[in-house]
Amino acid sequence: SNPSILILPGDGIGPEVMTEVRKIIDWFGAKRDLAFDVSEDLVGGAAYDKHGVPLADETMAKAQEVDAVLLGAVGGPKYDVLDFSVKPERGLLRLRKEMDLFANLRPAQCFDALADFSSLKKDVVAGLDIMIVRELTSGVYFGEPRGIFEEGNERVGINTQRYTESEIERVARAAFELAMKRNKKLCSMEKANVMESGILWREVVTRVGEDYPDVELSHMYADNGAMQLVRWPKQFDVIVTDNLFGDILSDCAAMLTGSLGMLPSASLGAPMENGRPKALYEPVHGSAPDIAGQGKANPIACILSFAMALRYSFDQGAEADRLEAAVQTVLADGVRTADLMGPEGGVPVSTAEMGDKIVA
Ligand code: NAI
Ligand code: MG
Repeated sequence: SNPSILILPGDGIGPEVMTEVRKIIDWFGAKRDLAFDVSEDLVGGAAYDKHGVPLADETMAKAQEVDAVLLGAVGGPKYDVLDFSVKPERGLLRLRKEMDLFANLRPAQCFDALADFSSLKKDVVAGLDIMIVRELTSGVYFGEPRGIFEEGNERVGINTQRYTESEIERVARAAFELAMKRNKKLCSMEKANVMESGILWREVVTRVGEDYPDVELSHMYADNGAMQLVRWPKQFDVIVTDNLFGDILSDCAAMLTGSLGMLPSASLGAPMENGRPKALYEPVHGSAPDIAGQGKANPIACILSFAMALRYSFDQGAEADRLEAAVQTVLADGVRTADLMGPEGGVPVSTAEMGDKIVA
């Protein structure tokens, strides 16, 4: 049977960019004999409007069964007044939590035609293609004890950085597997100089590395990593780091290359029975209420998220290359949505036109 995809367009520009991804999925079925069983459902505000919750139980169950989930974006001003427990974001958080998606993959890739767009010098970013793997389900955002407590005559705010060996091991393994599919180079970042969790992190990553003798493993303190990312990012290929450092380093790396409208992501969990990892693919951007419904959104972030699904869920690396090359070609032809226009201006294409050009 065909591999299965659950599409959750969500809110705002989510449905607009997802329409373009559907065109591409259809193209792969028609022209490359690569058909998918696609189903679609609601998440975020759209699900709240219909079910009173941002993710229905049936949708959650479906997400657990499919080979990959593709999500647009959730949220919008209309839902800002809702109680925290039913906010659109909770739909996304529930998916991540119940699918136990512990490895967040954030590529920073510079398309040549957009190299001028970076705030860094062109030769620093031209041809850049690196990947940050961020641990997503543990660390200081979740560790106990946490809270604001009375201590003497003042209060103290506490969060705890906590990692078990198995938590480090599984994200390290995901990063090594990724490195094997790429250029066999992995840099692990922590602060083993000042943090116990960093010492354990380095030890466990080194141990996992013994199973991957072909991968060149290096270690770096995360603060130095931040400097190196801006100084000469091309020294890296895959970076693996914890939740907190990964949050910051991945945002930093992403902005090396320009627009939010270009950035895909993947969140992976443990392998399922068929060997594929639990997986959720989504653009980094949100629902962009300021441009929603106007055909202005750049669909490339969502399209590149599907390219990641081809690569990491469906073992179709060559087809992912084909799709990324199509994006490259269209950009080199000067086709631009409004977010990719420099100060010199020009005539932007619509969301649908961008999708059509990439298909063509
Ligand atoms: P945002 O990413 O939606 O928008 C930030 C800016 O970037 C806006 O000016 C927007 O027009 C622009 N932009 C974003 N994506 C674009 C695209 N594909 N093409 C062209 N321009 C694009 O972030 P913001 O404004 O902070 O949040 C808006 C809503 O989205 C909020 O409700 C927020 O909670 C939600 N959100 C959802 C996320 C998700 O679903 N994963 C992530 C971030 C925010
Ligand atoms: Mg962040």
